[in-house]
Amino acid sequence: MQHLVDINNFSDAQIAQLLHDAKTFKAQRPSQLLRDKLLITLFFENSTRTRSSFEVAAKRLGAAVVHLDPGKSSTNKGESLEDTFANLCAMEPDGVIIRHSENEAPGLLADMQMTSVINAGAGNYAHPTQALLDLFTLMEHFNGNVQGKTIAIVGDIVSSRVASSGIRLFTRMGMNVILVAPKPFMPESDLPQFEKLEDVLDKVDVIMSLRAQLERHASPIFNDYAAYAKHYCIDHARLGNRNILILHPGPVMRNIDISDAMLEDERCKVLEQVKNGVYMRMAILKLLLLDSE
Ligand code: CP
Repeated sequence: MQHLVDINNFSDAQIAQLLHDAKTFKAQRPSQLLRDKLLITLFFENSTRTRSSFEVAAKRLGAAVVHLDPGKSSTNKGESLEDTFANLCAMEPDGVIIRHSENEAPGLLADMQMTSVINAGAGNYAHPTQALLDLFTLMEHFNGNVQGKTIAIVGDIVSSRVASSGIRLFTRMGMNVILVAPKPFMPESDLPQFEKLEDVLDKVDVIMSLRAQLERHASPIFNDYAAYAKHYCIDHARLGNRNILILHPGPVMRNIDISDAMLEDERCKVLEQVKNGVYMRMAILKLLLLDSE
């Protein structure tokens, strides 16, 4: 039984296989490879992209999907996460896809070894399927080789599980990662750190913009995000005609993270990331539910 708690669960060969399968699935609609499989989604935090992307991916491969809404579940009667999971596993799913506010939650459930656990985002530490779909998007753009490319991660990095998993995966793939943020958004890190976006624009091939994760701030960090946007919004005035790829995991805070006009620019791949998310999650489900059996 294989789990996806974070990127380190996958070998280099498995990551290469995922990239290959995602590309194949994008080129040609696959057969119903997972026709006999059943997945349960268990999202303790809100989601638009990840939850629907997993459901679309599973259904495109012929799997059935059941969603348990924790807000209407017996969690509200005091049932623990472990007991909720064990009861779902008694229904013999082939995998449980979980999103949770606690960094440790997916690992805790994986250690119970009852079904394959897939982390759909946990706390501020790990969002491995987002990192993999971002890598797929980068590989497509850079003709299959991201070695030596430089990516600037910009925004609320300290709160971001997308940044955490992305940093681990992009550095593993030989990319240079630099961090750009105001001090309250900057994590402790050995990576190069910059406060001003202007200082990195001529060094980077890719910018990954991040939303301020207001729901993770114990108290407001900035009162005025219009002032923040003056320094960090990715817009035409700042980018000019530089050949820089723009990524964002969503949801985008329009005109704070990325300007309306830049979202329409062909350098901006936000919706391509969402499209690629389905193909990458199809590849991940195939690997975990079929190839690893
Ligand atoms: N990228 C991402 O995790 O988006 P959702 O929160 O909408 O799933």
